Amino acid sequence: MNILVTGATGFIASHTIVELQNENHTIIGIDNLCNSSADTLDNIKKITGKDIDFYECDIRDTDKLKDVLSKYKIDCCIHFAGLKAVGESVAKPVEYYDNNIAGTLSLLKVLKEIDCKNIIFSSSATIYGTPAFVPITEECPKGICTNPYGWTKHMIEQILIDTQNANKDMNVVILRYFNPIGAHPSGLIGEKPNGIPNNLMPYITQVACGIREKLFVYGNDYDTPDGTGVRDYIHVVDLARGHVKALAAIEKNCGVDIFNLGTGHGYSVLDVINTFEKVNNIKIPYEIVARRPGDIASCYADPEKAKRVFGWVAQYSLSDMCRDSWNYQHRLF
Ligand code: NAD
Ligand code: UFG
Repeated sequence: MNILVTGATGFIASHTIVELQNENHTIIGIDNLCNSSADTLDNIKKITGKDIDFYECDIRDTDKLKDVLSKYKIDCCIHFAGLKAVGESVAKPVEYYDNNIAGTLSLLKVLKEIDCKNIIFSSSATIYGTPAFVPITEECPKGICTNPYGWTKHMIEQILIDTQNANKDMNVVILRYFNPIGAHPSGLIGEKPNGIPNNLMPYITQVACGIREKLFVYGNDYDTPDGTGVRDYIHVVDLARGHVKALAAIEKNCGVDIFNLGTGHGYSVLDVINTFEKVNNIKIPYEIVARRPGDIASCYADPEKAKRVFGWVAQYSLSDMCRDSWNYQHRLF
């Protein structure tokens, strides 16, 4: 297939491109490089030996996007482009709604013009808010988001569903990611933390290499086995393979379909620290502090639907995730 990847040089997209190229798909990539670097393209090529047709372009620039894409017959668009920092979205809501929502609307207009009827969208478990139950199935009701970033995902899902409803020959697959960590085992691509990390794993790796003195563990009084927050961490390579498998749902003309991409296992903050220490043989000093506003106790997926419909099951363990995160990130510092 000819696959358009928006946000192509980002963390999850770059791993997905590797897996798509391994299955002989042809990639047309778009990114405005606001949170990534074009060097990633060379590193993808070192892994797969293949080029991608890459264009530096903001998806909100409808005219340029149309110019770039009108020479291709695109079979499917995988839409990763977006801003994703939860805290920043609270401080800059207009920028987040503009980038993520106006960007998606612009993309949808161009996809219609070039007659691309298939789209896979990067959504997030954040749309479940405080989940009504765990493990979370796709039937779990969408909840109240605690930040503008989450609302953009919530709203874009609805925009896509309404668009498909008005265009029954379209197929929309919504993938709700749980907590992606890890990196390609080659160490060539991964996540580059920007500023002070908000997320657990990049913070741990910065403590591991001495940039930060200790990790602050946000609360140990949750209703979880050890009192710390429980999440469904998923290796980014498993997540990437989920996109390749999801193409099968598109090929079966699914209309709208929604899938959780998680492992089904919940690990606490202390589980992650202990596993990281054991696998990498590095001590992670930490201090228990107050809960972080907006955090929930426990969030993990029931990934059974993705297994049943397109045969996807996560393969990597938490130890693999801790090893590969460190293997990539220690080279950055
Ligand atoms: P990332 O920041 O590494 O990748 C996003 C890419 O989109 C970046 O390369 C950025 O430069 C590009 N981009 C942003 N706005 C753009 C625009 N207007 N035009 C063109 N390019 C633009 O983030 P990621 O972790 O790879 O996330 C990919 C997608 O998955 C995002 O939509 C994110 O919200 C979603 N997601 C991520 C997580 C996570 O924890 N990483 C969890 C759930 C969902
Ligand atoms: N945590 C700490 N200390 C830190 C950072 C995190 O104790 O310095 C704890 C949190 O309290 C939470 C767990 O580690 O219990 C995971 O926190 P992350 O910030 O890594 O991840 P979240 O589950 O809060 O959120 C992430 C993304 C969201 C996305 C969500 C689900 O940031 O954008 O996963 O995909 F929506």
